[in-house]
Amino acid sequence: MRRRWMPAVALVGLLSLAACGGGGGDQGATGGESASRQVEVYSWWTGPGEADGLKAMRGIFEKQNPDLTFFDAAVAGGSGNNARAVLAAKLQADTPPDTFQGHAGAELQGYIKAGDLEPVNFLYDELKLKGVFPDQLVQQITVNGQIYSVPVNIHRSNVLWFSPSVLREAGVAGPPATIPEFVAALEKVKATGKIPLSIGSEWTLTHLLESVLLGSLGPDAYTALWAPGADWSTPQITRALTDFKTIVSYAGPPQDDWQPASKQVADGEAAFNIMGDWAYGFFHNPPDGGLGKQSKVDFDWAPAPGTDGTFMWLSDSFTLPKGAKNRDGAVAWLKVAASKEGQDAFNPKKGSIPARKDADPALYTDYLADALKDWSEDRLVGSIQHGVVANQPWLAAINEAVGLFQAGQDVAALQAALADAAAANAQ
Ligand code: GAL
Repeated sequence: MRRRWMPAVALVGLLSLAACGGGGGDQGATGGESASRQVEVYSWWTGPGEADGLKAMRGIFEKQNPDLTFFDAAVAGGSGNNARAVLAAKLQADTPPDTFQGHAGAELQGYIKAGDLEPVNFLYDELKLKGVFPDQLVQQITVNGQIYSVPVNIHRSNVLWFSPSVLREAGVAGPPATIPEFVAALEKVKATGKIPLSIGSEWTLTHLLESVLLGSLGPDAYTALWAPGADWSTPQITRALTDFKTIVSYAGPPQDDWQPASKQVADGEAAFNIMGDWAYGFFHNPPDGGLGKQSKVDFDWAPAPGTDGTFMWLSDSFTLPKGAKNRDGAVAWLKVAASKEGQDAFNPKKGSIPARKDADPALYTDYLADALKDWSEDRLVGSIQHGVVANQPWLAAINEAVGLFQAGQDVAALQAALADAAAANAQ
């Protein structure tokens, strides 16, 4: 039997999460015949905004595969910390879903190394996918020449979302370009009584931390942190973590997840939120899924302070787990996920840009046009919270350190815990 890591904290409540089939999931089919037609697609896209993207791709899948039944096995919880814990239990029990969402980079490499996934080179050959995705992205999902997933998008993590009206009210001329400017702007907003910075559940603080580390250290020093033997004890890191402490001191009450935190900006209750560009889908999509807010009026965006010219990326990919019930059904899903039609339906709703290089640029307007341009021009660095640079045990240790920091506000303890996490997990 395979041994695998599972975060102890995430095991709490695992049964209840698994038992309800997730936040937005369908009821699974039980009968023999229907079960063989059913394709279990596992993700964490249940909430407003992100579920819209999945729904759009599901529509194409159902149109192209009238003989198959899509089973939405999503487990609620932004950024997938819950979903990955439930998935670890399913893989441990050798009852994998037919296909699951994972992040390109260190996160997927963990599943590959554990032997959970079947290579999909045959699909790359059949669909002529080599050359369709950026080389650097394919490298993140390849081990020993075998490719193990189909990337469906590129998201940007280092986005500062802001409320133009709250900034005006506070006398802040525009989005802050540096961390000192950011702190000055937060202070001005505080004086108005509005929330300077909105935050969500615990993982959103790790998300904030990755942008602050990048903004304070710059892309070279940030990238160097993920190499084996990296020195996490430097004064530069102490300064970055002190910046983090200062910024967090302006945060409003933690919200349940990323959506209510981002919504505080779009509703003009908070000035700033640092969140990935899935927030764009949520703000922009019509009210049956998103908030139907007006771009540049209700919300606006800029690179997170100090990170202009760097695109902190992540990519959602779908996999072919070994030993799943409906391999053919999973392959049918992967074909849709890989296709231009699938990606061009999914991404404009999801708030992401396509992983494919040949998608239709006319569909990517407003914020998404900026993202497309920056993806092709900016320096690239990988996200921590969203699986690119740190594997799952490392991320769990970082999440734990940040959680303790939230309670104690102790910069030295945070730096020591981050150094220990790196020493224990960097490969
Ligand atoms: C990320 C994921 C995105 C989005 C976000 C919030 O990890 O890659 O697609 O869903 O979490 O849930």
